[in-house]
Amino acid sequence: MRQQLAAANWKMNLTLQQGETLLNEITSASIELLAHQKAVFAVPFPYLSFAQSKLIGSKGFEVAAQNCYHKKSGAFTGEVSVEMLKSINVNYIVIGHSERREYFNESNQQLADKINLILEAGITPIFCCGEPLAIREAGTQNDFVAVQLKESLYHLSAEQISKIVIAYEPIWAIGTGLTASSAQAQEMHAHLRAALSGQYGSAVANTIPILYGGSVKAANAAELFSQPDVDGGLVGGASLIATEFVTIIKSLK
Ligand code: PGA
Repeated sequence: MRQQLAAANWKMNLTLQQGETLLNEITSASIELLAHQKAVFAVPFPYLSFAQSKLIGSKGFEVAAQNCYHKKSGAFTGEVSVEMLKSINVNYIVIGHSERREYFNESNQQLADKINLILEAGITPIFCCGEPLAIREAGTQNDFVAVQLKESLYHLSAEQISKIVIAYEPIWAIGTGLTASSAQAQEMHAHLRAALSGQYGSAVANTIPILYGGSVKAANAAELFSQPDVDGGLVGGASLIATEFVTIIKSLK
């Protein structure tokens, strides 16, 4: 069975103390994850080790970094390398979030470089893709995301790509309260899987989890996750509220 993930993206929110309270509330909610399910917390860099210590004992709970640098090491003041994250046992790294692409000018090529470093380290990348509103309105979203996949992922071997997680996040639905309908999400996820299948074959494409992101909340998670090609969610705003995120985790199939 394909892996399913409920991934929290805290972004640049919460003090350490607020984060601790949130993790305490979530871990005390007695959530029983099945073997193919994970709850992942993409917390700010300074909290990674602390969050790991809070999640010990919660089976299937993991931390993720929200980003990494696209070079191995060296004179890049303020950046964090994959090797550093590996050395503190981080198992997931989110890359290519639309906020990184937009505000920090991250290119598809830089993301390809990041993917290589992450896979080399044996870490799972959560690769974000998704179209802006103008592209959705023009009806060219399928081509747009296909280019994102092609330019950042298609240099990978079948064995490598089967180790990644994809998050489809339509930019017009992020933090806006607008959610893609479950039908729109399923349509795009099926398109992504078909594109991966065309490149790598269906056996490989069928193993790759594809998460939906963009205003996922307790009230819509079960409906979104019930779609055959939606394998969980990457959640911003609602992941900062314990009751919301607990319900979202429990909505995994
Ligand atoms: P949102 O953010 O759930 O607040 O829309 C999702 C994301 O950016 O990952």
